[in-house]
Amino acid sequence: MPLLAIETTCDETAAAVVTRQRRVLSSVVASQDALHARWRGVVPEVASRAHVERIVPVIDEAVARAGVRRHDLEAVAVAVTPGLVGSLLVGLSAAKGIAATLGVPIVGYDHIAAHLYACRIAHGEAMRYPCVGLVASGGHTSLFHLRSPLELERLGGTIDDAAGEAFDKAASLLGLGYPGGPQIERAAVGGNPRAHRLPRPLANDRERLDVSFSGLKTALRYLVQPPGSPAGRPPPQGQQLADLAASFQQAVVDSILAKVQLAIERTGCRMLAIGGGVTANTLLRETLERFGGERGVAVLIPPRSLCTDNAAMGAIAWERLERGDDDGLGLDVLAGTDRTAARRMTATRSRS
Ligand code: KG4
Ligand code: ZN
Repeated sequence: MPLLAIETTCDETAAAVVTRQRRVLSSVVASQDALHARWRGVVPEVASRAHVERIVPVIDEAVARAGVRRHDLEAVAVAVTPGLVGSLLVGLSAAKGIAATLGVPIVGYDHIAAHLYACRIAHGEAMRYPCVGLVASGGHTSLFHLRSPLELERLGGTIDDAAGEAFDKAASLLGLGYPGGPQIERAAVGGNPRAHRLPRPLANDRERLDVSFSGLKTALRYLVQPPGSPAGRPPPQGQQLADLAASFQQAVVDSILAKVQLAIERTGCRMLAIGGGVTANTLLRETLERFGGERGVAVLIPPRSLCTDNAAMGAIAWERLERGDDDGLGLDVLAGTDRTAARRMTATRSRS
């Protein structure tokens, strides 16, 4: 019997039905991109309200598409951390309602750990532990040492903007729409990635597994709007735009690659799993694949639909259900990015 997974951490309302064998019977994602586009970023209150409107139809559709009835559901899984508190609460309330009505267990899961579990769904038993995990999304850019699906040791990550956030802000500077990653990727086609010398802060620092994107963003800003130039210059077009987008994209990918290499060296792991919206980026995927080929490291890359936010990756909840966990109706959200609190959802057991 399958579980129902619910995901409302940020601006996607998603539900999926996944069997114990980790087979995805359905995965429905209602994107809010159009609602946030005019602000070029997620507006938390707008996101919460949209989740309220969409959560029930999205769940209904996931159950219908899976070809099951609600009474066939064995458990309810819900992403409870990290995320926007209002958004998280909508998913949690829906999950509790269904779990209580059906009298089935409810388990919370960590959205970041779930992004990496997308590799387990896509590659099955080929995903082995320990391995290095890279999560690059709109809210997070982190490297982990994974000892099991639920045991993540953070090795490092961004000290300022997340990679996706940097893409989104850069797209705004270039006069492109939201979300910025796919727009920059498209604009970069035909551009020269070496046209502009953009910084890769910390890339040569072998002491730290951290990355930084805020200086890169500022450098791009000065290229688009040189200091002292009149405000309101029209955004770059044509080849100029392509060169700026390609140079920016290359700098982000180089920064990430440098730390992935270091993490692999330090841990001695021969496997890399990646996840999160930015890992949908073709240059990043190809670069990491090439790196893996050259260094004899197996690189697990989920299909793009499993990189951006979705509820199918909530299949990770089976790892908790299989050891008998049930968080019960006292389950709460852990908003923000506090990894210490989030560890409760991963490494430790809980039974209500
Ligand atoms: O994982 P995700 O869907 O949501 C969060 O958990 O944050 O990631 C969304 C982020 C956005 O910042 C978006 O610009 C970025 O992923 N993104 C990309 C691409 N597709 C989505 N960044 C670069 N290239 C892409 N193709
Ligand atoms: Zn995400």
